[in-house]
Amino acid sequence: MSVAPGRVLVVVPTYDEALTLPGTLERLRAAVPDADVLVVDDASPDGTGDLADAVAASDPAVHVLHRTGKDGLGAAYVAGFGWALGRGYDVVVEMDADGSHQPEQLPRLLAALAVPGPGGVLPVLVIGSRWVPGGQVENWPWHRELLSRGGNAYVRFALGLRLGDATAGFRAYRASALRALDLATVASHGYCFQVDMAWRVARAGGGVVEVPITFVERTAGRSKMSRAIVTEALWRVTAWGVRRRVEQVRALGCPRPRARVR
Ligand code: GDD
Ligand code: MN
Repeated sequence: MSVAPGRVLVVVPTYDEALTLPGTLERLRAAVPDADVLVVDDASPDGTGDLADAVAASDPAVHVLHRTGKDGLGAAYVAGFGWALGRGYDVVVEMDADGSHQPEQLPRLLAALAVPGPGGVLPVLVIGSRWVPGGQVENWPWHRELLSRGGNAYVRFALGLRLGDATAGFRAYRASALRALDLATVASHGYCFQVDMAWRVARAGGGVVEVPITFVERTAGRSKMSRAIVTEALWRVTAWGVRRRVEQVRALGCPRPRARVR
């Protein structure tokens, strides 16, 4: 079965995922054999990059982009997207290495890219969502669920994005939509990168749809979520929200002070 229009590249960012990456790659290659894979490793001290190289050496569909140090999820993805666009892929997928995003659910995301939305327009971004009917999370501690639900509620309030899960990291983009964005201006380093990208795609007029997924908490290794990541998300989303309100007021034609006639 051909699962998606054109050539697909799955970008998998890694930092210290030696325990989880090999199994994820194996499942991914089995679930979506037509897709190529790019591991973007930030010089993981645990040797994840070497493990990825070993897989790439025996599987021509697997590639590795080595970066010099830990620079955040956002920067890793921007580098991976640049790699994909330079090589003519049609669809670019984001997926975590730790098994939380089930490769077996990727065909459903890719299939949704080919389902026309209102007006017969094809979506340019499909988000695998935890917080839409049918979506769920397995084994997450209550504080992570609260943070994710609360963060998403704040994103809806601040940005008016009508999405259940704007912070989700399991997604498929049309390369054309990425090409239309100025990725060099993406400054988000942490997980707010996900919101940043959804916001940019939506503002550019592209269709965004959500399909339910089951997010499974990792069983090995550890999350890179940190206070700095939460803080960055909070201030960036707030800044984007303020800018949006200012633009809305300007668009209403806020009366300018009239020039005084002498
Ligand atoms: N290259 C690189 N550099 N990869 C990174 C970095 C980094 O600085 N930080 C994290 N990663 C990789 C991890 O190795 C993993 O493959 C993926 O990014 C997700 O990181 P986790 O640390 O497992 O994230 P999480 O499970 O806490 O967070 C999940 O939920 C977030 C909030 O909803 C993920 O799905 C995020 O994508 C999501 O934004
Ligand atoms: Mn994770």
